[in-house]
Amino acid sequence: MQTGKEFLGEALRRDERVDAALRPLSFEDFAGQPKTKERLRVMTGAAKARGEALSHVLLSGPPGLGKTTLAHILANEMGRTVRITSGPVIERPGDLAGMLTNLEAGDVLFIDEIHRLPKNVEEYLYSAMEDFRIDIMLDQGPNARSVRLDVPRFTLVGATTRMGLLTAPLRSRFTLQTRLDYYPREVLAKIVVRTCALLNIEIDAGGAKEIAGRARGTPRIANNLVSFVRDFAQQRADGRIVKKVAADALELLEIDVNGLDEMDKRLLGIMARHYKGGPVGVGTLAVALGEDDQTLEEVHEPYLIQEGYLQRTAQGRVLTEKGWQVLGLIPGGKAGQMELI
Ligand SMILES: Nc1ncnc2c1ncn2[C@@H]1O[C@H](COP(=O)(O)OP(=O)(O)OP(=O)(O)O)[C@@H](O)[C@H]1O
Ligand SMILES: [Mg+2]
Repeated sequence: MQTGKEFLGEALRRDERVDAALRPLSFEDFAGQPKTKERLRVMTGAAKARGEALSHVLLSGPPGLGKTTLAHILANEMGRTVRITSGPVIERPGDLAGMLTNLEAGDVLFIDEIHRLPKNVEEYLYSAMEDFRIDIMLDQGPNARSVRLDVPRFTLVGATTRMGLLTAPLRSRFTLQTRLDYYPREVLAKIVVRTCALLNIEIDAGGAKEIAGRARGTPRIANNLVSFVRDFAQQRADGRIVKKVAADALELLEIDVNGLDEMDKRLLGIMARHYKGGPVGVGTLAVALGEDDQTLEEVHEPYLIQEGYLQRTAQGRVLTEKGWQVLGLIPGGKAGQMELI
């Protein structure tokens, strides 16, 4: 039996087949993210009207919020093909050159985890993005010569979970930089309903809301929870997902009513038990959790802040009343007396 922690961990991992089957193909199907969607609609509309390639776009945000999906939608909108690759896969400048010269004008090149692009490759990308050419060095020593390759006018869509790790020169070469936020519960509920319709699963509004509330603001987690709840509904109920069935299924997975994962709880717990709710510096917290501060700041904290468990202040992080409540602790209590449950 998997625990909730294992399940949530796995739910965040990509299952490319499931992702592909459920992936929205147009802006109409893509729920939420109104600002990003509007910006991208403006850009695609204008580029199409001018008959030009779309300019380069950088998408940032935590895993599972729809970056890859948006790259596909951008290519669809422009009526072009998308080529998918990722930073660590492009090891040498030659790999990049091969990929770029195989594109056709207007194609979208999607580089996932672009912050993990090797330094020497990144430098070649600058001239490709700006001047649509690259100068590749052939041979070494006295035979060394540089060859100029023309690259079709392509659109680079970069994705990163770690905006802070991107170099300034790379960042500045993207016309649009836009960040995806965690989805509010109502929007996730819509995504759950859509997923169920696509998979022929019967669900009511209460069931959808229950799943949405435990998905940590993340469509990929919501979709994965749907699949377990469906199995549960089949085995333990009449196959239909209603509130109680969803709640029981997720209880079985030990998934928190608030969708908080193990890292979230550890973070809040350390703040309460070791630092009396703060303020505590992010560096100190990172050491206590064995995580690096940027990951903490960019991957774990945003959800806790958005949901109001945590606040960022000039003095450091502070646990809110809601944060204390979710831990079942009373602020200021002595360690032994703090436990309410
Ligand atoms: N706005 C949305 N509306 C409906 N479904 C969505 C939306 N965003 C994401 N999804 C669903 O969530 C799945 C995961 O999204 P996607 O693969 O695009 O995330 P990602 O941001 O690229 O994650 P990672 O950083 O892990 O690569 C998609 O297959 C899609 O089914
Ligand atoms: Mg992705």
